[in-house]
Amino acid sequence: MPRKIIIDTDPGQDDAVAILLALASPEEIELLGITAVAGNVPLDLTAKNARKVCEVAGRADVKVFAGCDRPLAHTLVTAEHVHGKTGLDGPDLPEPAMPLQDQHGVDFIIDTLRAEPFGTVTLCPLGPLTNIATALQKAPDIAEKVQEIVLMGGAYFEVGNITPAAEFNIYVDPEAAEIVFKSGIPIVVMPLDVTHKALVTAARNDAFRALGTDPGRVVAEWTDFFERFDKEKYGSAGAPLHDPTVIAYLIRPELFTGRHVNVEIETQSDLTRGMTVADWWRVTDRAPNAMFMGDLDADGFFALLTERIGRL
Ligand code: RIB
Ligand code: CA
Repeated sequence: MPRKIIIDTDPGQDDAVAILLALASPEEIELLGITAVAGNVPLDLTAKNARKVCEVAGRADVKVFAGCDRPLAHTLVTAEHVHGKTGLDGPDLPEPAMPLQDQHGVDFIIDTLRAEPFGTVTLCPLGPLTNIATALQKAPDIAEKVQEIVLMGGAYFEVGNITPAAEFNIYVDPEAAEIVFKSGIPIVVMPLDVTHKALVTAARNDAFRALGTDPGRVVAEWTDFFERFDKEKYGSAGAPLHDPTVIAYLIRPELFTGRHVNVEIETQSDLTRGMTVADWWRVTDRAPNAMFMGDLDADGFFALLTERIGRL
């Protein structure tokens, strides 16, 4: 029985690979729709990029919605320095022919959770949590209807990537993150602690190219572009492929290990805004509210990803 999911995303090359992995895995995943959010680049671009990615997979039938164009309380911070001015720099992709749905992404999330059987829909946020938090604020009844939230965001041992203290998705909209982490919904977190161990080395990127397919080539060219920032900054062996870890967890959760701990979000301090304060050593009596991942089988992750992309 495939798991019903909504991907909430700010494509971004790594978001794009996550969407392809979901579309390549129909036995495990039924993608009900994609909601775009402002993040890596502004909303008009993330909504366009989400459709470009669906068309790379030959899936112009997927419903793509535009959601919120700015965070709840702060002005939007984007990441063109990482993803390029289009947010999907690398290969030249045609303008999308498939339409954007008229309905607002937040209303799609609300209506879907109200229409589907109780506890059967998983939300997979891959960008700032603005859409998810807005849906919870507008329709508090949906919180108990969500099966699970599996998100990419935050950091503990790895500390921040946009500031010394905060990871980008949480930093952009810390108020939204606070609403989500306090919602009582079961949450699985893929933080930088995990994604910085999922590096696309040259050999792994060559494996994408060696698939000999258009999607394989596109993924390799996204990585060629996306990796230059992280390799320069961290001197790492390749780009961390952040967002596909969320989808890989749905397919093979045993690839990941972590702890069920308390995670709270810093929203008051300018210095540490967006920090995910994970009580990894359980030194407080704050109730655990998230499965915070700490490690993954990187070879197993890339083997799964490459095999699935090869199916497109
Ligand atoms: O910090 C990494 C996250 O920020 C990823 O989701 C990437 O796509 C960007 O949104
Ligand atoms: Ca993202």
